[in-house]
Parts: sequence; C-alpha cells; structure tokens
Amino acid sequence: AAAEKGGYATFMEKEINEQPHAVGDTLLGRTDDEGRLVLDQTELSEDDLRSIDKIVIIACGTAAYAGMVAKYAIEHWTRIPVEVELAHEFRYRDPVIDEQTLVVSISQSGETMDTLMAVRHARELGARTLSICNTHGSTIPRESDAVLYTHAGPEIAVASTKAFLAQITASYVLGLYLAQLRGGTYADEAQSVMKELQGMPAKIEELLGRMGRVKEIARFMADTRSVLFLGRHVGYPVAMEGALKLKELAYIHAEGFAAGELKHGPIALIDAGQPVFIVVPSPDTAHGLHGKVVSNIQEIRARGARTIVIAEDGDEEVVPFADEVIRIPQSSPLLAPLLSVVPLQVFALHLSTAKGLDVDQPRNLAKSVTVE
Ligand code: G6P
Repeated sequence: AAAEKGGYATFMEKEINEQPHAVGDTLLGRTDDEGRLVLDQTELSEDDLRSIDKIVIIACGTAAYAGMVAKYAIEHWTRIPVEVELAHEFRYRDPVIDEQTLVVSISQSGETMDTLMAVRHARELGARTLSICNTHGSTIPRESDAVLYTHAGPEIAVASTKAFLAQITASYVLGLYLAQLRGGTYADEAQSVMKELQGMPAKIEELLGRMGRVKEIARFMADTRSVLFLGRHVGYPVAMEGALKLKELAYIHAEGFAAGELKHGPIALIDAGQPVFIVVPSPDTAHGLHGKVVSNIQEIRARGARTIVIAEDGDEEVVPFADEVIRIPQSSPLLAPLLSVVPLQVFALHLSTAKGLDVDQPRNLAKSVTVE
C-alpha cells in the first residue's frame, strides 16, 4: 500500500502533489494542426455550438465549485450567459432549457447519480449536453453529446483535489474553444490564454514547495471549532471549496462566504480569535475588487478575527491586516483558482492529520455517490 501511495502517507497527499501533472495532462493534445482547440468526442456540429444561447453547468460537491469558477471564465470569454446549479436542484425545478441550451455536466467519476439524472432530464428537454469527466467510458460521458476528458488520473482519496484542478482547467479549455468557434473579442486571445495555462503546472509545483508554514498553521489549529473562508470573484468558489475540504476531512464547522456579503450578515459571526481565511483577488482584477477585499480584511481584523490571508507574491497591501500571509505565484485573475485553492487543500489535509483522522476515507462519505 505504501508503494501505491508513491511514498506519501496518504492518497490525498499524493494526489495534491500530482496536481501539476493533472493540469498539464488535461491541456495535452487540445489543438489541431491549424492551432484550433478541439473536444475529445462530439456529436454536435459547429453550427449546433454556434447557436447555443445559454450554458447551464450542473454538478455536485467539489465539481460544482469548479463549475462556479467556470462561469466567470466562460462568460468573460464567450459572452454566453452561464448558470451553475447543483444537479439535484436542477433536476426537480422545471428548468427553462431548450435545444439552444448547452448543459455542461462536471463529474470526476462520471457515475454520480444526481448528476446523471440531471443530464438525462436535460436531454429529455432537448438540450445539448457536454460532459467534463475524469473517467473514460463512464455513464455520464456515454450519455452526453460531447465530452472533454480531464486527465487527472485515478483519484483514490474521497475528498477531491487533483480532479478539481483538472475540472477547472478543462472548463477554461471549453470556454476558449467556444470563444474561438464563435469569433468575437476573445477568439484571438484564446492562444495567449492557452499559453499562460501551459505555464500553470510549473507555478503549482513551485507553490507546493512553499507549504511549510501552512502545515504549521494547521497543526496549531487542531482544536479549532469553526473556520470561516472569504473570497470574491473567482476566489468565492475557492473559499467555498476550502470550507468543504475542512468539513469533509477535519469535521470542523466551516463556511465559505462571498466577501461582499460579509456586511450583510456573516460579520456578526466575527469575535475575538475567530480564524478567517481570505482568498484575496489578484491586484489586477477589474473594478478595484482587490482594494475592497483588503478593506474586508481590515474590518474583520478590527473585530478580533485572526486573519490568514492568501495573496499573490508582491501584494503588500494586505500585510498590515494579516496575522498570516500565504503567498501564491502571480497569474491573471481568472486563472488564479488553480493556485489559491492549493494552500486550502494542504491546510485541511494537515489539520485532519493533526486530529488523527482518516484523511483518505472520511466518515460518512463515499467517493462516488451512485444513489439519489
Ligand atoms: C461525492 C464526493 C465528492 C465529489 C462529489 C461529486 O460527494 O465525496 O468529493 O465532489 O461526490 O463527485 P463526481 O464524481 O460527480 O465529481
């Protein structure tokens, strides 16, 4: 079993460390001879895809957070409206979709019953379906009109890590593919974004080498009862994923919030010593969001929160309000989740370990939930 884990103590630790490969492999072979992006399998014609006027992303758990990241990127690059919905909610609420809707499912296993039922429902309503999936030949891609496989390799740990990064990567590829196919402002930029994506594995690798302090923080926090996570823009789903990882692995109450929502309620939770992780947007993010999040950090720190700030290299504005600064390499704002989630995964892993829990097989959870 030790050999299977490649020298790591747990599958999860191994899989976290495989993330540079998961992203790199998911990007392999995505362009044809003319430099155009391609899907793995499709029964949809280019005309079908040009006529799409709405995208609905359906998924469960971690895959749904990948879908939330995808929404920001795909809308920005394609100007097609994108909704993201939990598959089990979508299926039972009479959604408004038709043949001009592209329903994109995201699933590591390709067998999650809630997601499969939603895909079937979408097909019955006439929608086009595309599957982003990590498991070749599984049910969801077999029942979809088009497929984009993630190449994260088998994921054994119940809590998803490398599959999540691969799902986000595949979503970017899908967004750029649609942008190229449909023309418009971002068609020409697809190549340069792909180029930046190709550079992400090296940045993730570098980041994985900097996790010493995160492990220490996790060990110090083994008795913590509650942790909050704040994020904005693409950092919002990252905050939700950070909270989910902590619930799954360390059985600690954790909540992720949109930073802008803080003043509308959650700030009442802040009292002395409350640990709060803040996923800070890249200083380049549009509309001055970086400054707004820095103000949020200042506000909660003034109320006694212990602030653990995830910020880009060179972002000095956060420093005066941070009890801890965890640095991530610089990237363009939309690609940052591939980096910012990594310290949150490592934190949950080491907190779980510090509590003596079973990292790979958390209580009450299954890797693939094949019942509704
Ligand atoms: C289960 C797992 C989660 C996973 C979710 C969706 O709940 O415990 O880690 O995110 O299923 O799985 P899928 O295979 O559809 O991505």
